[in-house]
Amino acid sequence: MADIRFDGKVAIVTGAGGGLGRQHALELARRGAKVVVNDLGGSVDGSGGGSDAANKVVEEIKALGGEAIANGSSVTDDAGVARMVKDAMDAWGRIDILVANAGILRDKSFTKMDIADFQVVVDVHLMGTVKPAKAVWDIMRAQNYGRIVVTTSSTGLYGNFGQSNYGAAKLGLVGFMNSLKLEGQKNNVHVNAISPVAATRMTENLGMPEQVLAQLKPEYVTPGVVFLCSEDAPTGAVLTAGAGAFALSRIVETEGVYLGGSATVESIRDNWAKITDETGQKAYLNGGEQTAKFFRKMQGG
Ligand code: NAI
Repeated sequence: MADIRFDGKVAIVTGAGGGLGRQHALELARRGAKVVVNDLGGSVDGSGGGSDAANKVVEEIKALGGEAIANGSSVTDDAGVARMVKDAMDAWGRIDILVANAGILRDKSFTKMDIADFQVVVDVHLMGTVKPAKAVWDIMRAQNYGRIVVTTSSTGLYGNFGQSNYGAAKLGLVGFMNSLKLEGQKNNVHVNAISPVAATRMTENLGMPEQVLAQLKPEYVTPGVVFLCSEDAPTGAVLTAGAGAFALSRIVETEGVYLGGSATVESIRDNWAKITDETGQKAYLNGGEQTAKFFRKMQGG
């Protein structure tokens, strides 16, 4: 089969001044995409900033013979996001791909976490994905083509001590994707999620040994992201990626039990083994499928 190329396509990659986002931007550019490199250029906790980080990656892309423009806005800044999209449209007239990758950390156990540290992490990851997605959504719909990749995390999917803010934001992105995948389908706008594991400045405080870090290069995640940006991309998938391994993560529901309108607190307790029995568990395509199961069970099916 032919190589996957992005000639004539325009991509926005947020948080692309370093780490994973830089690799995604470089690989999209290597494969022919014109790229908006967004990065606020702040520290890992979101403080500080400047557009140097984005400019440097733009220079790297140009050195490879590619086309790119820098954007130093925060993904949470409405005017900055609008400018980022306008710059891309003015320069190239279309936007095919959004990789929403920008992120920060404010790790603390919930006991010690201020609400301000919770809020800013939700703002950057969740609203910092929603705002760029909203700004490109109608452009993609009108083109009848679009690919959006949101960046989730094993913390959101499964949990991690000290990251309640980050986990809430990251699983929020999966909920966001689950509705967009349905709303985008008619206009060939596919929305997927990447759950990466990579050695970046974000993971440098986890105390992982050098040999492990060497196996977790950010560029090992990028093929998964670039596939989700391609014409062959599925929609509504959560692709996990790290160290060269790739898998699909999904929320499944057990078949469960029908207890009828006379269900009691005690009957829930007494049926817990049946409620949680994994035999026949499945993932649903939309919320309505779950409701349909409830009615099927009510009818004895
Ligand atoms: P990183 O810190 O190297 O990259 C994040 C980039 O986002 C930075 O360049 C930063 O300047 C930029 N950024 C932060 N706030 C921004 C804002 N408001 N506006 C624009 N840019 C902003 O970290 P890494 O590891 O490359 O993270 C990339 C994404 O992958 C993040 O969403 C992160 O949560 C996610 N992730 C990373 C994992 C890992 O193992 N490294 C694990 C799971 C998820």
